[in-house]
Order: sequence, then structure tokens, then C-alpha cells
Amino acid sequence: MEIIRTIPAMQRFAEGCLRSEKTVGFVPTMGALHEGHLSIVRDSIKANDITVVSIFINPTQFSQGEDYTRYPRDYDGDIRKLDGLSAGAGKIVAVFMPDAVDIYPDGYKTYVEVRGLSSQLCGLFRPGHFTGVATVVLKLFNAVRPTRAYFGLKDYQQCVVLKKMVTDLNLDVEIVLCPTVREPDGLAMSSRNAYLSTEQRLDAPGIYKALKDAGRAVKDGSLKIKDIAAKLRESLSAVKSITEIQYASAYDPDTLDEITEGARVLIAVAVKMATTRLIDNIVVEL
Ligand code: PAJ
Repeated sequence: MEIIRTIPAMQRFAEGCLRSEKTVGFVPTMGALHEGHLSIVRDSIKANDITVVSIFINPTQFSQGEDYTRYPRDYDGDIRKLDGLSAGAGKIVAVFMPDAVDIYPDGYKTYVEVRGLSSQLCGLFRPGHFTGVATVVLKLFNAVRPTRAYFGLKDYQQCVVLKKMVTDLNLDVEIVLCPTVREPDGLAMSSRNAYLSTEQRLDAPGIYKALKDAGRAVKDGSLKIKDIAAKLRESLSAVKSITEIQYASAYDPDTLDEITEGARVLIAVAVKMATTRLIDNIVVEL
């Protein structure tokens, strides 16, 4: 499996793919790969001639005091997992692992801001986060030049922000959204789950249960959309390890505005268990 470490080397590889008319699927990640990431990689492998997975812990999407320095890193494990998928499918997978100074050299000045959509939900609690995400993803697109780029619906707002960036900037890449992969007990897989203590981990499925209970109740008519927020807060407050509910409500799946009625509802939450921040969401069609 090819490991590419610089932007110029990645661009040369991309040039070769374009010249030989190969389709390139791109899966951007921050590493510490789990089954959520790997299922996306499998989707890309299936649909494209070549798959590029980037592993880059992007400093600009972490706010001051967040977990940038302690974010889980497992480069050897990641490469082993991707090598396994590549060999198993008999398809080319390349790993792009740039250094932070390669992406943001001294004197770096340019940022991409998707207004409005970046300042709701997670954006309220992580100022600058989505500007960091949009900026790095655009830079990665320019290095990889993918036919298709794959993102997980676990990070629903990220999907909406990046789709808007692609539309607004006329980027020639198809965005493919992939379903959330969960642990058997319902907890959405996340690299940050590694931070949880035994007790917090036992309590964590309560987040998805709160979403599912609210989703089921609006679908069967026993709960109104306007009462989803209260119902979520009641359920989440009963989960002992949850120390803060940052947001928990019903939103328009396209605009991310909070809603009290509609035919499709995004039910999304962000909570903290001590220092660990967890997010999850479901979309309900009524
Ligand atoms: P990261 O958290 O590593 O996630 C990489 C991709 O995997 C994202 O598209 C994310 O939505 C998806 N993913 C994570 N957990 C998932 C799960 N349980 N089920 C399905 N998909 C899941 O998201 C980022 O990195 C970064 O913001 C990035 C886009 C790489 C920009 O730095």
C-alpha cells in the first residue's frame, strides 16, 4: 500500500490517476480508525478504481483547550487496517499522511467559512471548528483531486457544511454520505469513545436510546416535534455520566434551523461526560 507524505507527492499521484482515467474515492479522516471509518473506506473501494484515505489531525478545527494534543493516534494500527482492506478487495488504497507544516506552512493565511451553517449546533460550542474543517477539506481535495468524497452522517452538520462548500465553490467532486456505524449497544462509534471510563462507557448508549425513543414517539404521533427538545432533555438528564447537555432538539435537516413542525426532522444532541464531548443524531421521516 502506497503511503504518501507530502502535498506535491499527492498531487503527482492524483495527476497519474487523472491521466489514466481512474476514478478516485477519497475518505478524509483524523486516524485512530474504527469500524465507522472502515465501512466508509469499503464503500469507496467498491465504487472507485482507487481509494485515497487521508490521516491528518487538523489543528485548525480544534478550539483552544480542546483535545488536539491528546487526540488518539495509532498510525501503525491504521495502516495495518487499511492494508487489510486493500489486499482483501484487490484494489489500490493509498494513504495520505501530511505533516501539519505541509498543510499550514509558516505565514498561512487562507480560510474557508461556510456562513450560517457553521454557527449553529456544534458551531455554537466550537467556534471556528467548521472553518477549520472546510479549510482542510478543500486543501485535501486540491491535493487528492477525488471523483467522489465520502463522509459519515455521524457528523451530520459537517456533511451539510461540506456539501454547501462544494456547491458554493463549484467543486467538481461528488459528495457521498454514509450511515452511522454503531457499537452493538447503540453507541455511535467515535475515536473519542476511547476517552470514556468504564462507567461512562456503560452509560453512553443512553444517548442513542434518547434519540431513538424521541424518534419513535414522533413517528407514532405520541410526541409533537415541538416537544422533542423537552423529551430529549428528560431522557439525557437521567443518564448519570452526562454532566452537560450542550444541545438537544429537533432541526430542519437541510438548514439546521430548530423546527417545531415538518416532514423530515433531524434529532441531534451533543453532551459531555466530564471532559469527553459526544455527539449523535438521527433523521426521522414523518
Ligand atoms: P474523523 O472524526 O476521523 O472522521 C472521519 C470520517 O469518518 C468523517 O466523515 C466522519 O463523519 C466519519 N465517521 C466517524 N465516525 C463514524 C461512525 N460511527 N459512523 C459513520 N461514519 C463515521 O470528521 C473528521 O475526522 C474530520 O473533521 C475531517 C473530515 C477528516 C476533517 O479534518
